[in-house]
Amino acid sequence: MGTFSTPTSKKWILNAFSMSSPTHVAPGLWRHPRNQTHRYKEIGYWTELAKILDGNFHALFLADMLGIYDVYKGPGNIKEVLPGAAQFPISDPSLPIAAMAAVTKSLSFGITASTTYESPFLLARRYSTLDHLTNGRVAWNVVTSYLESAAKNLGLEQEISHDERYQIADEFLDVVYQLLEGSWRDDAVILDNDLKSYTHPDRVRRINHKGKYFQVAGPHLIEPSRQRTPFIFQAGTSKAGKAFATKHAEAMFLPGMHIDAVRKNVLDVRQSAAEQGRNLDGLKLIAGMLVIVDATDELAQKKYDEYLSYADLEGSLALFGGWTGQDLGAYADDDNFEFTGPGAIQSIVSSWRATIPGSEGIKWTKKRVAQELALGGPHPRAIGSAKTVADILEKWVAETDVDGFNVSYAVGPGDLEDVVKYLIPELKSRGVFWDPTAAEGRTTRENYLGVDFSDGRLSSDHPGAKYKWKASD
Ligand SMILES: Cc1cc2nc3c(=O)[nH]c(=O)nc-3n(C[C@H](O)[C@H](O)[C@H](O)COP(=O)(O)O)c2cc1C
Repeated sequence: MGTFSTPTSKKWILNAFSMSSPTHVAPGLWRHPRNQTHRYKEIGYWTELAKILDGNFHALFLADMLGIYDVYKGPGNIKEVLPGAAQFPISDPSLPIAAMAAVTKSLSFGITASTTYESPFLLARRYSTLDHLTNGRVAWNVVTSYLESAAKNLGLEQEISHDERYQIADEFLDVVYQLLEGSWRDDAVILDNDLKSYTHPDRVRRINHKGKYFQVAGPHLIEPSRQRTPFIFQAGTSKAGKAFATKHAEAMFLPGMHIDAVRKNVLDVRQSAAEQGRNLDGLKLIAGMLVIVDATDELAQKKYDEYLSYADLEGSLALFGGWTGQDLGAYADDDNFEFTGPGAIQSIVSSWRATIPGSEGIKWTKKRVAQELALGGPHPRAIGSAKTVADILEKWVAETDVDGFNVSYAVGPGDLEDVVKYLIPELKSRGVFWDPTAAEGRTTRENYLGVDFSDGRLSSDHPGAKYKWKASD
């Protein structure tokens, strides 16, 4: 079983966390004069963003939804998300990737796609195509989706039950592995002029998968790409979600506002992965963090306070409705959620309290909940000078043993530009910044797991590896 590096020697993984929408985790901030994310429809927006991130972040990570947040203020109500552009409108995150790949050298691209609503055959083809076009720099964030509105968009009367979504996901991944790892032998493409053969006739086969949820004959339509299976991300938080993630994921996002909760989660997840025979060096753990950094603590705090004046609190409460299934519209503005309301809200409120110094005496009303969510959503925040932010991040790494961060923004891409300008030099001086120059020409898998561990393909302990069809077979 592999060991993991000690926090001091570890180079951190840094992802920029975003969405193909005018706002991601900060509804209303599209109005800020410095904000550019409303340009998400322009290819130039994406290529400019990619150039800012390349050589700094490991990946641009794009969340995605297939429905609208319609829980707040009554089932089916969509009005509250519209003014603040709360994750709506939202376009297909996979389409700008090829253009971004063309202007970058080491940046990877993590794209979210749902096993509940996609077809494994079509998804495998799309990610293979992207793996070719990015020369091995693509990752898939596997989600099972949580919005009832998505189910209704995709032909269902209601959502498939939570644990069954994970059973579907498990078979979905199995089909994808068979297609990507097992239907083309590694040396199938020969381009042999003498034999007049592009592909060797004996080296491509069907998979003939007939399972409970999917029937796929194969073969996979496109020849093997560098990674075959895209690098796999997951972020399940439930029991079924964690079991799925620790089996399949190569990197996991760990949600959580509080260091103690995340530390416990890290231990749980690593234990579950080890029980499934996974090498722990092949599973990286990433925490979410909103970073607002500036030349001094005062300037960063001033910036945060100014951002807050643009926040659309109704949009944040609408997001909360979709994330938790809880409609806060039914509560009065001054109800104290520490003591009233569903357990899900009380537990979120108590996590927040623990992270916010001096919050003990403050009443956790609906407005307060909305303000806490307004910038960064359910992620912890690091606000301050480069030194202050780096200290916060170092504490997280030291105390939770996470491998890195999904950095989110309120104003995009300005807050990410500030990370590059202020924070990254500080991380370099502390010896925790990775080596993006060495990463050029390497795959996502090599850059996340390290070239000592990975040759760019699924590692031998991964459940998809059993389908590999090697030239020597
Ligand atoms: C940091 C983070 C990012 C996520 N991003 C998405 C996303 O973009 N789209 C989505 O449908 N679900 C997303 N999820 C949700 C899930 O990955 C998961 O499918 C959902 O939480 C339901 O599973 P669970 O009950 O095991 O958590 C995200 C979760 C976390 C913690």
